[in-house]
Parts: sequence; C-alpha cells; structure tokens
Amino acid sequence: MVKQRKYVVKKPFQGLPKKSDFEIVETELPPLKDNEILVKTEWVSVDPYLRAYNSRYPVPYDQFSYQVGVILESKSAKYPVGKRVVSHKGWCDYCILDTVPTKEFTKMVYLLPDMQGISPSVGIGAAGMPGNTAYFGLLELCKPKEGETVVVTGAAGAVGSLVGQIAKIKGCKVIGFAGSDAKVQWLEKELGFDKAFNYKTVDVNKALKEAAPKGVDCYFDNVGGEISSIIINQMNDYGRVAVCGAISAYNEDPTKIPKASILQPALVFRQLKIEGFLVWRWGERWTEGVTQLITWIKEGKLKAREHITEGFDNIFDAFVGMLNGENTGKAVVKI
Ligand SMILES: NC(=O)c1ccc[n+]([C@@H]2O[C@H](COP(=O)([O-])OP(=O)(O)OC[C@H]3O[C@@H](n4cnc5c(N)ncnc54)[C@H](OP(=O)(O)O)[C@@H]3O)[C@@H](O)[C@H]2O)c1
Repeated sequence: MVKQRKYVVKKPFQGLPKKSDFEIVETELPPLKDNEILVKTEWVSVDPYLRAYNSRYPVPYDQFSYQVGVILESKSAKYPVGKRVVSHKGWCDYCILDTVPTKEFTKMVYLLPDMQGISPSVGIGAAGMPGNTAYFGLLELCKPKEGETVVVTGAAGAVGSLVGQIAKIKGCKVIGFAGSDAKVQWLEKELGFDKAFNYKTVDVNKALKEAAPKGVDCYFDNVGGEISSIIINQMNDYGRVAVCGAISAYNEDPTKIPKASILQPALVFRQLKIEGFLVWRWGERWTEGVTQLITWIKEGKLKAREHITEGFDNIFDAFVGMLNGENTGKAVVKI
C-alpha cells in the first residue's frame, strides 16, 4: 500500500490565498485497476490559473495543476514502469492515473516527450502548458511579422518570457513590462528584449511612447487592467491583441472588478483585433508546439529559466510567492 499526501482546498480563496485555505490530507492509495498507473511525483507546477479557477470549483477539491512524475507500477502497456508522465493531478506526492485517452484537459495524461537532456521539470514549463500558451497564443493570434513591434506584460514570467523570445526569433522588436528592476535587467541583458520596463516605477504611457515611437503592432496581454488599456491605446492600424490572462485582477473581489479606461475608440479607429484564448484550443497540436519549443531550447534560441522551490511542504509558499511576483521564469516545486 502506498500512502499519498495531497493538498485539498477546503475554503474558497478571498484575496491572496491563505495557508489555512488548504489542508494536507493523507490517504492510502488502492490497488491499480486496468489502464491505471502509479506515479511518484517529481515536479509540481504552481500557476496563476489555480487562483483564477478557484471560484469555479466547490470546496473541498484536490488542488489540481500540472505535474511530472515517474511511473512506479503500471497496468497500461503504453505507460511502462520507469517512464515519466505529465498529468494534471496537482499537488500530491504519489497518485494513480487513468491512462485511457480523454479530451478533457483536467484528465489529460501523456508520456513526457524526449527532453533531449533538458530537465523533466521543463515539461510542465517551457515545453509544456506555459510554453504552448506562448507559442500558439503569439503565433496564431498576434501573427507577428518581421520588423513589427510586440509588447508583452508579465514579461519575466513563465509565459511572458517565452513570448518575448519567440517574437525575437520571428524578427520583431520586443518591449516587455515586468515588476522589478532585476527582472528588467534579465529581459534586456539575457533574453535580448529591445526594451523592458518596471511597470511599478515608470510612467507606462510615456515609457512606451519613447520605446515604440512608431506604435505597437502586437500586444500579448498577461495581466489586464489599466496597463493594458494604455498599451492598446498606442496600437497601430490593424494591431492584434492576444488576451492570455488578467492576473492583476485574480485576487480582487469578483463583485468589485477593477475598472480600466475604455478601449472602444482604439478598437474602432485603429481597426484592432482583440481575442481571448485558452491554450486547450490547440490541444490537437500539443506535440507540435512542445517539439518546436524543445528544439529552440536545444539550439540555444530559447532560455527556459525556472524558479525552483524545494519540498512538498513548501508548495503553498511557492504558489503565493509566484502570485506576489517572486518568480523569474517558471515557478516549479521539486518534490
Ligand atoms: N489563456 C491561457 O490558456 C493561459 C495559460 C497559461 C497562463 N495564462 C495566463 O498567463 C499569465 C501569466 O501566467 P504565468 O504562468 O506565465 O505566470 P508568471 O508570469 O510566471 O507568474 C505570475 C506573475 O504575474 C505577475 N503579477 C502578479 N500580480 C500582478 C499584478 N497585479 N499586475 C501585473 N502583474 C502581476 C508577477 O510578476 P511581476 O513581478 O512582473 O509583477 C508574477 O511573477 C496569467 O495571467 C495566467 O493566468 C493563460
């Protein structure tokens, strides 16, 4: 018998999640049934959507998220013992996975692709869900062309840092906004962003006008709120906006959603296209994205920085730390 420890959300989050909103529950895992595998978790992801989706799930619920683990026991021929697997089983140290294929993203299970020597943790980062979010969101919705100006917010995070680098690969001028001077330095000096700003200390309107005097063609929006209205108001004719996330509002009271300046004049008179998306839209093309991302990482064109926290007991701190901007790159926990 294997004992599992898992995080259960027992109270709906109000504002920033609290440790007391969770309970660590210990249970004995049952014997495997046909098509099931027993997995020892190695890496767990902490992501903004865990906060954003909280209101959709009645408590108590097991805290979901992507994770990578190694197969200890198998009743599925396609999932042999010793291989690694990506699933959405979240914050637990062991789990049983049903390997019957499904289109439901919360039940998605797949063998970790050949990482070509890259850490398996990148399979839940730059070569996983956040990677595909950047890849498909930018290329399919913003459709950046060589020489165009691309702006990204949340620029030093898991998705944003990849968006900027992919835009550079496509020959664009890239401007990023992030929440600290150290992040700004990293974006400009290590990732090759043409310009980056600390949105907490600059006048965003003025800074962007100076950095993009000819206007903005593509905006990859990770944060929402007033900064996005400012950026969208500086877009060129036929500009494209991919709305990926709204982290600036995730901890806000849903009955008092923050207000931002209206966008309609810019949308109409600049004939902009603005489209929200969920990465699952490209579920059928998942492998294509992951394969390209791994190739770019191996070629040295994409840096997949991680912000690693150690220990099952520290997952909550890693989660809240990420919401507070402590991470540069993808926030993951080594179990
Ligand atoms: N649509 C999809 O399918 C999809 C998929 C994945 C992610 N997303 C979205 O993409 C965004 C980024 O996700 P990620 O996984 O890459 O996370 P991340 O950027 O690695 O981490 C979150 C970052 O958000 C920033 N942040 C926190 N509060 C903020 C605020 N009030 N205003 C502006 N920035 C704030 C912090 O950086 P700073 O220090 O810069 O503030 C923090 O590091 C999120 O909105 C997420 O929901 C969407």
